[in-house]
Amino acid sequence: SLYKEKNRPQYHFSTRRGWINDPNGMIFYEGEYHLFYQHNPYEREWENMSWGHAVSKDMIHWEELPTALSPDSLGTMFSGSTVIDYENTAGFNKGNVPAMVAFFTVDNPEKQIQCMAYSLDKGRTWTKYAKNPLIDSKAKWNSKDTRDPRVFWYKPGRHWVMVLNERDGHSIYTSKNMRDWTYQSHLTGFWECPDLFELPVDGDKNKTKWVMYGASTTYMIGTFDGKTFTPESGKHSYTTGSIYAAQTFTNMPESDPRRIQIGWGRIPQRGMPFNHMMLLPTELQLRTTRNGPRLFSVPVKETAQLFTPVQQWTSLDATEANEKLKAFDQLERFRIKTTLKLSHATSAGLSLMGQRILDYDLNSNLVNGVFYSPENMTSMEISADIYVDRTSIEVFINGGEYSYSLERKPVANPKENLQFWGNRIEVKELQLYTAKSIWK
Ligand code: FRU
Repeated sequence: SLYKEKNRPQYHFSTRRGWINDPNGMIFYEGEYHLFYQHNPYEREWENMSWGHAVSKDMIHWEELPTALSPDSLGTMFSGSTVIDYENTAGFNKGNVPAMVAFFTVDNPEKQIQCMAYSLDKGRTWTKYAKNPLIDSKAKWNSKDTRDPRVFWYKPGRHWVMVLNERDGHSIYTSKNMRDWTYQSHLTGFWECPDLFELPVDGDKNKTKWVMYGASTTYMIGTFDGKTFTPESGKHSYTTGSIYAAQTFTNMPESDPRRIQIGWGRIPQRGMPFNHMMLLPTELQLRTTRNGPRLFSVPVKETAQLFTPVQQWTSLDATEANEKLKAFDQLERFRIKTTLKLSHATSAGLSLMGQRILDYDLNSNLVNGVFYSPENMTSMEISADIYVDRTSIEVFINGGEYSYSLERKPVANPKENLQFWGNRIEVKELQLYTAKSIWK
């Protein structure tokens, strides 16, 4: 039956049927987190792009609702965002009910245009704006790549901001009424699915920076005056691997101003009637490092309910630690927190069924094959919080300073199971948790 299939991720969102990619329109409204997403309701492959829809009260347990936006005579429904029009700037509101307004790209063989639709019933049903498109900028850029509108209300200027990927970077448009948009600026160096948000540095509300974000998880830190983003840093990335096109929730309540991101997990779901998945929701924070402020990403506190601590140890050698891990050999889903200490400037890590899920190479500045800023690679110790589900693995290094996600490779003949490796390493900390399922 539904959600009972052999390879169904057990604590990550996946759709009942069909294909998913980018998260879209992520918004918190009236006690519900809305996750829309690029969806092909009919097949396991990318096609017939529509906006799928799921809601949750805790970002962990999801209920899939009927498709929100389907292809129309203008084209298919590509990525975008939603806002709540509290001040009725567009005139769609009805009595006391503010409209939820979705901005999205319509794709057709000729071009990509920006459109809107609104909902008066918490995203369940949608009316497309009769005068779509809002923006048609193919000619201006001499490019078909104009897509993925990210809209938010800019309080100081009392106007809407749209960040839009155009050709080789992110453009900014502004509007007072959601219908008429004025081009303001453009920043090269990004590709697809923009996001732009303000974050406190080290949790200090009086010290904030803006973050400009692109689909491959690259970002720049800078300032924003409502019309132009001015970078103060180069391009960085805090996470790599299977993640792509992540987006953050908007309209969070004042009492909970967290910036929470969900990424598309580009992970094949083999032999299943559905394909690909969403990764765990993570909280993004700007923390001061010796290189300046950088994005950190940690699973939201709501994920704690998923895991039951089993046992923990300190100061083991690899042989002892591997002995303890045997209890987890047969589990299909679990979480491991560990701190490893090297005795030489070489490499060490942890493998699962022969797959290296942690590979710390202190000499070549690599974590799982990805170049990791050498300034950060000066410690003989590394800590990792590792989330293993049926088909995916997410690893958070050193408290979220860096993270990565990967497919959990299917194994034909499981031989060695969970194994620490490395020359005379010390497993300073080892904590094991079992994981619950979010499906009933
Ligand atoms: C990113 C992306 C977006 C586009 C969507 C189409 O993965 O290519 O730029 O809107 O997917 O599904």
